[in-house]
Amino acid sequence: MSVLISRKIRVHQLAETVRAGAEIVAENVALPSAGQVLIRNRFAGINALFDRAVVRDELPYRLINPPFDLGVEAVGVVVAVGQGVENLKVGHFVSTTRFTQSYREYQTESADKVWQIPALHPAYVALRPTAVSALVALEQVGQLKDGETVAVTAAAGGLGQFVVQFAKMRGCRVVGICGGAHKVAFLRQLGCDAIIDYRTENVGQALQEFSPKGIDLIYDTVGGVLFDTLLNHLAVRGRVVVSGYASDMGRPELPELVTSPRIYTQIYWKAAQIRCFQNALYPEFQDDASRRILAWYHAGLLQVKLDERRFKGIEQVFDAIDYHLSGQNVGKVWIEL
Ligand SMILES: NC(=O)c1ccc[n+]([C@@H]2O[C@H](COP(=O)([O-])OP(=O)(O)OC[C@H]3O[C@@H](n4cnc5c(N)ncnc54)[C@H](OP(=O)(O)O)[C@@H]3O)[C@@H](O)[C@H]2O)c1
Repeated sequence: MSVLISRKIRVHQLAETVRAGAEIVAENVALPSAGQVLIRNRFAGINALFDRAVVRDELPYRLINPPFDLGVEAVGVVVAVGQGVENLKVGHFVSTTRFTQSYREYQTESADKVWQIPALHPAYVALRPTAVSALVALEQVGQLKDGETVAVTAAAGGLGQFVVQFAKMRGCRVVGICGGAHKVAFLRQLGCDAIIDYRTENVGQALQEFSPKGIDLIYDTVGGVLFDTLLNHLAVRGRVVVSGYASDMGRPELPELVTSPRIYTQIYWKAAQIRCFQNALYPEFQDDASRRILAWYHAGLLQVKLDERRFKGIEQVFDAIDYHLSGQNVGKVWIEL
């Protein structure tokens, strides 16, 4: 193979924005070692809130020190295989999920970490790991039961669309909460039993009408005022899955603003629970969830909504991140590489 050059996004310094902290760099691509495959990434999922938090050093622990690369999920084509690799061949389409491996044109990965997929399609960057996170969080953290009432925030987003669908598959009554008329239209088509546009409706009143006895399971990724309102409508023995807090993330002034009562005063008398989810901390459930999700998708039982805004080429990763942070998206934000 002649010398290949790969371009990627590399964070060279911690900064306020990914654009300020990162740059595009080119490097020679090495042939895969034994047990590895070389992949030409074709699609990547965008996880702007996570990217920004990492570059701002906002996680309670430092993942890695600069310089480091960004991006998690990718779909691509195997272009070379290392010695001893039996399960994959050149030309196979694959899905990968590993921090630092997707905002780049080529990646090298252990063959046993790579999932072969039947088609080269961006839907797979939404299925793994976004849909996987939704399923593991609902089942393992939310302890979802058949027929419950479920409320989902950012329901029209990359992750929320799957929370809605998995809850519906379990016979639940689902209220999808979102910001904007274009998202309402999508959630109607997705099969939500009720939809609340928090920009134009009184969320508390709408939740009360949807379920006067309260909501059994709240799946929240938005946080802020919406979280407070949802908490007031939690059912007896209800559960809240905190899977993100998009509206409050990146606000260092926040602790000074929070004046609400201590959380336990709101949940103690209902014997309710607030539990948090982090996909990386539930690794043992991910393979099984991936298998079930891919089977449902291939059987036509699971829709994947990809956001319609198109981004192409490594230089547009920054624009895709800014767009995702604007919160306008419907479905998963992604880029073609
Ligand atoms: N815990 C985990 O392991 C895990 C794994 C994956 C993702 N997540 C989190 O889950 C959430 C969904 O991820 P995703 O990639 O699928 O994103 P997404 O839902 O496609 O996009 C984020 C959505 O959050 C809402 N939002 C509200 N306030 C926002 C703000 N200030 N800035 C940006 N968005 C805002 C917007 O929807 P509305 O306008 O409809 O509210 C927006 O579309 C994110 O918060 C992400 O960090 C967590």
